[in-house]
Amino acid sequence: MNLVEVVLQSVTQLPPFPAVIQRVLQLVEDPKTSARDVVEVIQYDQSVTANVLMVCNSAYFSLRRPVHSLAEALVRIGFNNLVEIILTRGTSFLFFQACQGYQLQNGELWRHSVACALLSQILADRLNQKKSPIQFTAALLHDVGKVVLAGFVREHFEEIRRRVQEENLSFLEAEKATLGIDHAELGGKIAENWKFPPDIVAGIRYHHTPFLAPEFQDLVSLAYLCDVVALMTGIGGGADGLSYHAYKEVMEQYALKEQDLEEVIIDLESRMKKVEGFLNVP
Ligand SMILES: [Fe+2]
Ligand SMILES: [Fe+2]
Repeated sequence: MNLVEVVLQSVTQLPPFPAVIQRVLQLVEDPKTSARDVVEVIQYDQSVTANVLMVCNSAYFSLRRPVHSLAEALVRIGFNNLVEIILTRGTSFLFFQACQGYQLQNGELWRHSVACALLSQILADRLNQKKSPIQFTAALLHDVGKVVLAGFVREHFEEIRRRVQEENLSFLEAEKATLGIDHAELGGKIAENWKFPPDIVAGIRYHHTPFLAPEFQDLVSLAYLCDVVALMTGIGGGADGLSYHAYKEVMEQYALKEQDLEEVIIDLESRMKKVEGFLNVP
């Protein structure tokens, strides 16, 4: 078996993706979905329900009166917020462990993932785009390939670093040159295995190479932008954080000025502080 085959086989060691979260993802893709459909799917899952209530009653929403049920949560925080809580809490188990190859300690990849998901909403607002749970999900899960690739990156770290330094490759290119596959491509394969909708698969697969995406350009470019901004703030910038080749085109495409970015980062930092309380819970 060659190295790529070994990497691909190790995907099977990931824990199964929770069926209830998979169902929520499918519902969110369907324009006919009503808020009640989502509540119906999750209401029998005790841990999802408990998570929704905990987050609703946290400092993040600063509600005056506590929320006691899913139906009440829906009325008080709205459909998008409800779906975002379900997805965020339902996927944290994937990202919480340390990714040693990437020099990310326990919880660091998780912080980076949440920061990117929050940025998808902050940036959509700033760019006058419609906010959607689909963008949120693609940004949240974009680095899922790192979870599997981290062990292989650790084993081959010296070679990857040498390629970055001597051959002027980006970290991603050096991963591919050394291991035969990079974390973005691997993430796309994982997302396909889990039967994620094709737009989310594309957001994950092309998050470092948005111009190669054959479709879903807007979603892919936004996922890329979120990652770049999160790395600029230093959230989750491990071994690879500074070694991606920035694509000036995406920044120009969005016509973001330094002042815009500064405001976006201030907004992100204040939102990250509010979610801090439940970021530490795996
Ligand atoms: Fe990445
Ligand atoms: Fe990332």
